[in-house]
Amino acid sequence: MPIGRDEAALPQTIAEAREAAEECRACPLWEPATQTVFGKGPDDAPVIFVGEQPGDQEDIAGEPFIGPAGKVFDQALAAAGIDRRQAYVTNAVKHFKFEPRGKRRIHAKPTMGEVKICRWWLNQERRLVRPKLIVALGATAAAAVLGKTVTIKATRSTLIDVDADTRLLVTVHPSYILRLPDAAAKARETEAFEADMALVLRTV
Ligand code: URA
Repeated sequence: MPIGRDEAALPQTIAEAREAAEECRACPLWEPATQTVFGKGPDDAPVIFVGEQPGDQEDIAGEPFIGPAGKVFDQALAAAGIDRRQAYVTNAVKHFKFEPRGKRRIHAKPTMGEVKICRWWLNQERRLVRPKLIVALGATAAAAVLGKTVTIKATRSTLIDVDADTRLLVTVHPSYILRLPDAAAKARETEAFEADMALVLRTV
């Protein structure tokens, strides 16, 4: 019997979870997407970074955070001295949700219902990787980890206990920095994001 979203047959490894998630049909997002984009990184990583959902490039490549937001993320990690290869990187929602516009596919925000459905996979990743720290990149990721809506303003840069062994750090999504039109605001927010990444390094 294939391992799926069945409490009686929980995946035993990240590789099993990844394989099972390829067949996930629990919400309609799988259909227009190219593929499931599952988390990537060591299955004993001390930290899990959680984004919102794969973007256009991630959907095609099948890997999280390799497009423009991934570049901002990589730069902040490098500035803080974090080796991404030692982290597990995933998303709250594992399929790209988009609106077709001509030849382009425009990112569409997942609903809380979709986040809740996909949370099953995030919970498997948390159970199997057992990280010391989870970093929520943006409000959707924070909601997926906590199971309730929170604001970035109220939660950012503080360490929140989520269970006996795991803490959560909420920060902004790298796309937020990308979208800032003003160079000064961009520089200020980049610095704040890098400071959060430095806190990650001090925590794990
Ligand atoms: N944005 C995300 O939240 N995740 C990705 O993997 C890429 C862009």
